[in-house]
Amino acid sequence: MAILSSSSSSSSSTMQKGIVVTVPVLVLTASFSAIILFILSYSLSSCSCPSSSITSQNDAVVVAAVNDGGITLSEKITTSREDIEWVKDLIRSNGLHMQDNVLRKGINPRTRDQQLQDLIQYKGISHYEDDDAMNNHTALPCPGELLVEEHHSNYGEPWAGGRDVFEFLAEASQLKRNAKVLEIGCGTLRVGLHFIRYLNPESFHCLEKDELSLMAALRYELPSQGLLHKRPLIVRGEDMEFSKFGSDVAYDLVYASAVFLHMPDELVWIGLERVVDKLKPYTGRIFVSHNIKFCTRLGGGKCTERLASLGLESLGKQTHDSLLFNHYEIWFGFRRIKG
Ligand SMILES: C[S@@+](CC[C@H](N)C(=O)[O-])C[C@H]1O[C@@H](n2cnc3c(N)ncnc32)[C@H](O)[C@@H]1O
Repeated sequence: MAILSSSSSSSSSTMQKGIVVTVPVLVLTASFSAIILFILSYSLSSCSCPSSSITSQNDAVVVAAVNDGGITLSEKITTSREDIEWVKDLIRSNGLHMQDNVLRKGINPRTRDQQLQDLIQYKGISHYEDDDAMNNHTALPCPGELLVEEHHSNYGEPWAGGRDVFEFLAEASQLKRNAKVLEIGCGTLRVGLHFIRYLNPESFHCLEKDELSLMAALRYELPSQGLLHKRPLIVRGEDMEFSKFGSDVAYDLVYASAVFLHMPDELVWIGLERVVDKLKPYTGRIFVSHNIKFCTRLGGGKCTERLASLGLESLGKQTHDSLLFNHYEIWFGFRRIKG
């Protein structure tokens, strides 16, 4: 008989009574615990559970769980209510309020123009003097206009809106890291940067016609964001010709953010006809922002008919709000209904 009790000499009378457990009961209990532990650890290690999908109290929060190609990742895409509360608390606890941006100790605010003039005049505080300084010391010399980020004001809307678009599109298309994405008219990569960062290398493609935007994308945005290693395939062109992206690519998402409204209707249709074969049937998505006048201008049921003739089906209209400014954006979704 084993007696489990307090061995302290100063134990109280209650403790001195102890708990009496027989040896067979002790052995049985230990064996039972061992079996339970074994079953638990086995089921955890051999679990073929579906990839996790963590949802916060905020329904808009998406966690894309990736369990393809042997990689298991849980990637949170959309900003959650908890994230917002966290940052608000931090601002509150630090007693922060918006201030005028004026000259103060250690801080000398400059407009983009002033900063560019400073760059031209002083070439930075410490700089190499010799003529070929750029060749010797700067691997990828960037024009001053790009360094002061003039191109961040190119679309009349805050640059931060690019993140809103990414979060909306990634959520709406249930985008995984190993997806393939094509942006038509990616401009300065306001939106594209977020896709490039999220996706596996060589998975983001873009067709863009504007040379200055392409310079900003390639000479400033990708290197300054440390994204050159993601090797996005960015092609200059305005003819909706996608052959340079390869013949066997199957896109999970094709999107045009603020682009089709600037193009002749017929060019949009040519583009859709060419891209539809490159879109994954049923699961792949095309998203077009702002409006689809290229289609509705056809009148009556002609819009649906012409889409159907390409093997496309409209998924209707959705909107998303901006996280940082009072703004919403309208999107029209499409999917390919023929294999
Ligand atoms: C308002 S900007 C939007 C840029 C980017 N999509 C964004 O949301 O930040 C429109 C872009 O579409 C491009 N674009 C217009 N017509 C095009 C065409 N036919 N082919 C490719 N790009 C075009 C413009 O050069 C410009 O960069």
